[in-house]
Amino acid sequence: MMLDSSEIEQAARLLEQGKLVAFPTETVYGLGADATNPEAVAAIFAAKGRPSNHPLIVHVAHNADVERWASHIPAQADSLMKAFWPGPLTLILPRSSHVPAAVAGGQNSIGLRCPSHPVARALLAEFQHGQGGIAAPSANRFGHVSPTTAQHVLDEFGDADDSPIAYVLDGGQSEVGIESTIVDLTRLDSVGPVVLRPGQIGVAQLAQCLGHLPMMPTLTDADAPRVSGSLASHYAPITPLVLIDSAELVPLMRGLESVHRSYVVMHYSSLPKDNYHALAIKQLPADANAYAHGLYAGLRLLDTQEADVIIVERPPLSDEWQGINDRLRRAAFESGGIVEQLLKR
Ligand code: TXA
Ligand code: MG
Repeated sequence: MMLDSSEIEQAARLLEQGKLVAFPTETVYGLGADATNPEAVAAIFAAKGRPSNHPLIVHVAHNADVERWASHIPAQADSLMKAFWPGPLTLILPRSSHVPAAVAGGQNSIGLRCPSHPVARALLAEFQHGQGGIAAPSANRFGHVSPTTAQHVLDEFGDADDSPIAYVLDGGQSEVGIESTIVDLTRLDSVGPVVLRPGQIGVAQLAQCLGHLPMMPTLTDADAPRVSGSLASHYAPITPLVLIDSAELVPLMRGLESVHRSYVVMHYSSLPKDNYHALAIKQLPADANAYAHGLYAGLRLLDTQEADVIIVERPPLSDEWQGINDRLRRAAFESGGIVEQLLKR
């Protein structure tokens, strides 16, 4: 979905004036501001309710001068940019001293990404003549499910005059549906490339480009730069969410029905044809990319049903499902014990 050039121009001018503009990317919608304007960056943190020490990703145009943002571009970064930009990959590099620390949450590194969505590309080409950087976290309130449509952004922030967002560009539903893969290249001498957040670009694809497997983060990786997406309880709907093995799905639904609990279901394998008393049942495709595409819209829809619990069929554990499993595990994090509690009369 492409927009009128006057809309792109208007959005770019607002960003240049220090305003916030929400825009589509191929992963999720971003809440954008001029990355070099500390007041505009502060407005992002305020709008999201996000702690100001959580760094933001700077979005740049295709073939932008990356050296403006990073003080050193290792060979691995060059290979990854060549292979995956524009696209759903964020690189963490040492921050150039010219870049205000605010956008990096005070880190001496900087997250850079060149998105492929045609509207994001047009906006980046128009903003500061293609030379600027747009700082943009996902356009949701802190800890909540990321938006994959313009309507989701409006649902998060409202469209009243007092909305912190000056403009929302509508580019249709984000194709990928989950946030970009993040690879940290700031510790090459000690640990090598580290995947801070899995996404559609999987470890196998990264390994093919790098010539070896990158590290996956561990919970004890105390050196790792702070990634708010790595907080255990991120990406969560308001309704408690549980991940359930395929074979346990129907027994749990029947169990909840027998104690008159309300529930909604998200599944990908076929359910036996029968009468279920679910408030809503959302089937997603069994293909990982197609599943990711519909994941957040599905969670948002199920969340509106005000059920006692969202039951999600646990996806396969293979490489292409890694980003999806990561998000679902975080969404389920605070719901431990909920099933036992609900089944108790
Ligand atoms: O797909 C995406 O990456 C989307 C779209 C809008 O581009 N953006 C996104 O931004 O997911 P956000 O802020 O919701 O998540 C970005 C993650 C955060 O967890 C942040 O901490 C991490 O990237 N990050 C950014 N800069 C970093 C840095 N210098 N060091 C470590 N982590 C960084
Ligand atoms: Mg986010």
